[in-house]
Amino acid sequence: MNETAGQVILVDDEPAMRAATAQWLELDGYQVTSFDSAEQALRSLERAFDGVIISDVKMPRMDGLSFQQHVAALDAAIPVVLVTGHGDVTMAVEAMRNGAYDFIEKPFAPERLLDIVRRACDKRHLVLENRALRQQLAAGTGLERSLIGNAPAIRRLRQEITDIADTPASVLIEGATGTGKEVVARALHDLSRRRNANFVAVNCAAIPENVFESELFGHEAGAFTGAQKRRIGKLEHASGGTLFLDEVASMPMQMQVKVLRALQEREIVRLGANDPVAVDIRIVAASNENLIDAVQDGRFRSDLYYRLNVVSLRLPRLCERDGDLPLLFDYFAQEAGRIYERPVPALSPACIAALGAHAWPGNVRELKNIAERYVLSSLPPHERLPHMLGLLPGSSGMFDATSGRSLAELTHDFERRILEASLRKHQGNIQAVMDELGLPRRTLNQKMANHGLERRQFVS
Ligand SMILES: Nc1ncnc2c1ncn2[C@@H]1O[C@H](COP(=O)(O)OP(=O)(O)OP(=O)(O)O)[C@@H](O)[C@H]1O
Ligand SMILES: [Mg+2]
Repeated sequence: MNETAGQVILVDDEPAMRAATAQWLELDGYQVTSFDSAEQALRSLERAFDGVIISDVKMPRMDGLSFQQHVAALDAAIPVVLVTGHGDVTMAVEAMRNGAYDFIEKPFAPERLLDIVRRACDKRHLVLENRALRQQLAAGTGLERSLIGNAPAIRRLRQEITDIADTPASVLIEGATGTGKEVVARALHDLSRRRNANFVAVNCAAIPENVFESELFGHEAGAFTGAQKRRIGKLEHASGGTLFLDEVASMPMQMQVKVLRALQEREIVRLGANDPVAVDIRIVAASNENLIDAVQDGRFRSDLYYRLNVVSLRLPRLCERDGDLPLLFDYFAQEAGRIYERPVPALSPACIAALGAHAWPGNVRELKNIAERYVLSSLPPHERLPHMLGLLPGSSGMFDATSGRSLAELTHDFERRILEASLRKHQGNIQAVMDELGLPRRTLNQKMANHGLERRQFVS
């Protein structure tokens, strides 16, 4: 598909000029469709045209300016380059103000035209790409809108969620931090017949051990010092709905027995009460470590593990979801743009590359934060991402690879990344790096030598 450099529609009433221009473009790899009138060109033009229009200005009947207006009415983002006669510069500038992409004055050097066309083609391509991404998002079902992504693993996950949502089966969701475990848990609830009852999230890592039991099971007034009123616990509150046990590996051991019993017997006893209360709960649990490891370490009861892990779902890390980065980024950036009422600059190819080069140790949550900062940043759009990502820890997998590495190794690695990023940013300008990092020259030299970094690697 990409054998051509791009498509060009060429409109000129003068045959010789048309032929010569077409030839230059074709030699440079463009696929050219020529017309001798604007009317004809308009008839075959489609809104989805993925290319550039070059049009002469002076033509009988419809001239280039009114042609450009007609094109803009179809799609204002189709780039139109006007070819003007000598002395028409004022008019051409006016045309650009009205939305023309650029103009070129006759006679012109072919290189100049090719240069304009190349830039216009790139721009058009990006516009269409962003538009397609947005359409994909808009077309989705509820789940496609809440659990976004086209990576095979995410599509499969959406299918699994749809299949199991309305069953009573317990679900264990495993995945690294920020990969969307809570999104999945909510989706399971929202797509089940329990959706009108409560979705109750319990973060097992955040509840102090001494209040765990009363949080989960509730208590009667006077059950213990400070228990002035009866309190309904999370399990009872979730009855008829879904209980989400987040970071379940952190549940204290003695609570694990009690929770297991409640699940098996489908009833709970409030602290200080005698009579059990029936509960009907669907359990969804999440863990950012492999729960089976916790079982093997003796930190998690295997009977509870098997009770929770009837169906297991795994969330891939963001860096394993090929192609989803621009999609998710665009989604979060548009969302931030709406919330903060800021324009959202289109993603340039360099920005997309910067996204791909980052390791995303914080996964989707990190991407969402970065997209928000991208929209709020006051830097020129093309500098924002490289700047934000260049100096973040983990910009090429640092936190991914923490396992088995000592703090000294990680710190050493981090230092090298910071030095590299700063050297790259200042293109090897040592004084600028010294200023930015607050380092004396000798220390900087030593550190660079330490890391095998040389100034000339960064001079462009
Ligand atoms: N596929 C996705 N589509 C849209 N938004 C997502 C997706 N995955 C995650 N998010 C968003 O990213 C953020 C983090 O997701 P979530 O809280 O579900 O992660 P988590 O796996 O529970 O993380 P943690 O282990 O740190 O609690 C949330 O704002 C969530 O809405
Ligand atoms: Mg979570």
